[in-house]
Amino acid sequence: MSRPHPTTARLTTLSQWKALQQHFAQIGQKHLRELFAADSQRGEQLTVEAVGLYLDYSKQRVDADTLRLLRELAQACELPQRIEAMFRGDKINRTEDRAVLHVALRAPSSEKILVDGHDVMPDVHEVLDRMAAFSERVRSGAWLGHTGKRIRNVISIGIGGSDLGPVMAYEALRDYSQRDMTFRFVSNVDGTDFAEATRDLDAAETLFIICSKTFTTLETLTNAHAARAWCIKALGDDAEKNGAIAKHFVAVSTNAEGVSKFGIDTANMFGFWDWVGGRYSMDSSIGLSTMLAIGADHFREMLAGFHVMDEHFRRTPLESNLPVLMGLLAVWNNNFLDAATVAVLPYEQYLKRFPAYLQQLTMESNGKHVTLDGIHVDYATGPIYWGEPGTNGQHSFYQLIHQGTRIVPCDFIGFGQTLNPLPAQNGGDQHDLLIANLIAQGEALAFGKTAAEVRAEGTPEVLVPHRTFEGNRPSTTILAPKLTPHSLGTLIALYEHSVFVQGVIWDIDSFDQWGVELGKQLAKTTIAELTAKDEPELAHDSSTNTLIRRYRKLRDSQKPGAAA
Ligand code: F6P
Repeated sequence: MSRPHPTTARLTTLSQWKALQQHFAQIGQKHLRELFAADSQRGEQLTVEAVGLYLDYSKQRVDADTLRLLRELAQACELPQRIEAMFRGDKINRTEDRAVLHVALRAPSSEKILVDGHDVMPDVHEVLDRMAAFSERVRSGAWLGHTGKRIRNVISIGIGGSDLGPVMAYEALRDYSQRDMTFRFVSNVDGTDFAEATRDLDAAETLFIICSKTFTTLETLTNAHAARAWCIKALGDDAEKNGAIAKHFVAVSTNAEGVSKFGIDTANMFGFWDWVGGRYSMDSSIGLSTMLAIGADHFREMLAGFHVMDEHFRRTPLESNLPVLMGLLAVWNNNFLDAATVAVLPYEQYLKRFPAYLQQLTMESNGKHVTLDGIHVDYATGPIYWGEPGTNGQHSFYQLIHQGTRIVPCDFIGFGQTLNPLPAQNGGDQHDLLIANLIAQGEALAFGKTAAEVRAEGTPEVLVPHRTFEGNRPSTTILAPKLTPHSLGTLIALYEHSVFVQGVIWDIDSFDQWGVELGKQLAKTTIAELTAKDEPELAHDSSTNTLIRRYRKLRDSQKPGAAA
């Protein structure tokens, strides 16, 4: 349905938005101490438990009215209709004229999901089955390298969405992985990444997965060429002709022509589709390294975990819908509390790459300055996501979160059971110490410590301001029983859909990424200028020109014959 072309962004003109502003004028003055004191049930009531996750948002600076007003805003922004449009396969990625159907990647084969009248589910399951058969052959040792050795090392080459999901999932599910195999990931065009990933490996035992949706990405193709050269050096000059390369390279892409042009037999290619966004692709064949690591059954469990959250998101009323709640709270913190960043703090070492993964998911999706209609927004869109696993962050940046001048809403993530029990000196398990820290941090952030409390401890007056904690710093805590492929899938889908909810409220296209283009385009000119034999005519600004000259000089100063 085409809508009349507006000239101003609509969001802040909505009566529901104005109602939230008025509401903020009151609740924004209230301390979390007051909110908890006013309602002894708050810590139980402002929680939702569903699909294996327990979400406590009672330490957010909201009350029941805030939630009601946010839901009214969501209705005014047609969130339920937009959710349905996504699941139906409508082309909601308007600027690229594409459907957004990562949910199809984890739907059961009994479902029917149409894109341009074509049911995509048989395609999805055909690729999954091929991935499973291939993974089984590699993991069991049936797939041999060119010299007859079994594959012991898998190197996945990709970048952005073709890397961050697989790296994160491999790290997260390492405990479930085949431990006699080595998995590495190469993404950076910095040659060090490739060199360090391969330096101690035998090419005869190594399989490369070249992952690129477009198969045109500079970094990935450059590293893929380096990988081929590395293999040829080890396996012999005729490695390409005698079929050796075919045993050591597979590709994951939507671009069969590009794959074949690179020299990988499309029989060894695992496809996916343009309706899968790069940052939403870890459940597609982009997850081949994950499946090789944890096996097809665990991979399917992970997909099932995603799917239960998809179903929850699609079918649960707004008030108890986890991603809706997370998304609306994110809007509240971003646009009313004016918090520019969100810290994601997993108290689970296996989730150490989760914040990095979320950075692309959230910031490439919602870092947009115009609405779907191309109107410049007059409100803040996507916040900056960052984080580190607990407890490491506590000894680093938590100082600022507790006592700095900025509000940093935190997402604490923890599990009831550890995968690595380790007795601690106090008789408990180290896991108890870990989770005690998670719980204590949320409490400290919310309630702080008043000057009176600090004085009562006998603190010298001169130190009282330094040792006072204002508190009133919002956080959400997410708990799950145990880190498993299933719970990981559920957690990731929670964030995926929360990002979508935020994008709907901000009326932006969460599924394009035009902002990455300009730098890529300029780099092409710069590469030519850096690699030209003689210094080229430079027509950039004076800073860029000088940097190019300076780099050429620094680089060439070590070359034989260079002026001392
Ligand atoms: O440059 C950004 C981007 O286009 C991401 O959106 C994408 O995930 C990444 O590059 C990699 O793209 P490809 O999978 O096509 O190599």
